[in-house]
Amino acid sequence: MHRLVCVHCAAEYPADQVIYTCSRCGHLLAVEYPLDEVSIDRSLWHRRPLSVWRYRELLPVSGQPVTLQEGGTPLYRLERIGADLGLPHLYAKHEGMNPSGSFKDRGMTVGVSMALELGMTSVACASTGNTSASLAQYAARAGIPAVVLLPAGKVALGKVAQALMHGARVISIRGNFDRALEMVHELCLSKGLYLLNSVNPFRLEGQKTIGFEAVDQLEGVPDRFVLPVGNAGNISAVHKGLNELLALGFIDRLPMMTGVQAEGSAPVARAIAEGLPEVVPELRPETVATAIRIGAPVNAEKALTAIRQTGGTATTVTDAEILAMQRDLARKEGIGVEPASAASVAGIRRLSEEGAIDRDERIVCVVTGHLLKDPETVIGQCEPPIEIDAAISSLLSALSS
Ligand code: F0G
Repeated sequence: MHRLVCVHCAAEYPADQVIYTCSRCGHLLAVEYPLDEVSIDRSLWHRRPLSVWRYRELLPVSGQPVTLQEGGTPLYRLERIGADLGLPHLYAKHEGMNPSGSFKDRGMTVGVSMALELGMTSVACASTGNTSASLAQYAARAGIPAVVLLPAGKVALGKVAQALMHGARVISIRGNFDRALEMVHELCLSKGLYLLNSVNPFRLEGQKTIGFEAVDQLEGVPDRFVLPVGNAGNISAVHKGLNELLALGFIDRLPMMTGVQAEGSAPVARAIAEGLPEVVPELRPETVATAIRIGAPVNAEKALTAIRQTGGTATTVTDAEILAMQRDLARKEGIGVEPASAASVAGIRRLSEEGAIDRDERIVCVVTGHLLKDPETVIGQCEPPIEIDAAISSLLSALSS
C-alpha cells in the first residue's frame, strides 16, 4: 500500500489521513509506493489508451475515478522552430489539449477522486487561473461544491469564464497568488474543505503522467524535459514520476530537468544561477504570463532537487521573448498556447543561443495551456481584422493592400 512521506524529514503518514504538510517539520508530503513489491506489466500499459489512467498502478486512487478523459495529449515535433535553433529533435507536448485546456486536469482527476475517497464534501484552491478552471470542472463532474480564490485583476479572461460557468464560488482577493494560497490553506484547515493546490500530494501524482506519456510516445527517455515554472509543482511531479520509472527499470536514466521562469518572477531560476540552497521569494512578481506570476513557489525545494540531481538547469525569459515564441508556435507550427506555456520553448531558444544545449539532444518542452485561455493578450499582439463593405471589389482591394 502507498503512504505519505515527508520530502524533508521522511516522517510517514497513512494515505487515508487528510494532511498536506508534515506535522513534525512542516514540509510537503509525497506519495510513496512500495516499488519493490508492485508488479507492473508494461505491455498492459501499452494496451490501454494513452491517458492518465493508463498508469493506474502508480496512482493512489482505488475505485472508479472522476474523469473527463484527461491526458493522451499530442507530442508534436517542432520542425521549423527546431530548424531555426539548429535542434532537430525538439518536441512540444501540448497540454492545452486536455478537457479544461491545461495540464491541471491530470492533477484534478486524481485529486478530486481522492477527495471523494477520503469522504470530503467540498474542494478549494487558490489559482492564477488554470487550477481554478480545472477544479471547477472536476468538482462539477463529481457533484460537489468548489471555492476558488483568484488574485484580483490578474487572471486571464478564459480561465475566469471557465471557473464561473462550471459553478465554482469565485472570489477575487486584493492581493497576489502567494497570499491567496496562504488564505485558502487556512480556510481549508479551519473549515474542512479539501485543498487542491499543488501542496496536495495526490494532485501531483496525476501530473507526473506527463512524463510517463512522453516516454511512451518517444519510445524512450528524452535527454531534456523543459517546463515553465510557477509554483514548481509540475516540474517536481514529472521528476518524481520519472524516478519511479527508473526504480522499476523501465528507463535507464533521467532527463535533465529544465525549468523556465519569467524574468519578473524567477526565484527558482535565481537560486539555480546563484547556487543558493533555497529560493528567496520575489515579493512583487510580475509578468505577462500571469499563470506563472508567483513569487514564493511552495514546491521550490523539490524543484531545486529535481534540477540539481539530473544535471538540468533553469533560465529566465523576458515577456517579449515569451510573446515572440507564442507567435512562432502559432504561426510556424500551428500550435496555439497561452503565454506561460510558450515560456518553455522560449527558454530553449535562450539556452541554445547561450550554447548550453547540445544539438543532438532529444528535448521535450511541455506547453501547458491553450491559446484561448488568454484571448486578451493574443488580441493585443495582433492586427485587428479589416472591416469592409460586403462587395467583392472591396474584398479584392483589401487583399491587395
Ligand atoms: N503553465 C501554466 C499554463 C500554468 O497555469 C501554471 C501554473 C504553470 C505553467 C506552472 O506550473 O505551478 O506547477 O510550476 N498555474 C497554477 C494555477 C499556479 O493556479 O493555475 P507550476
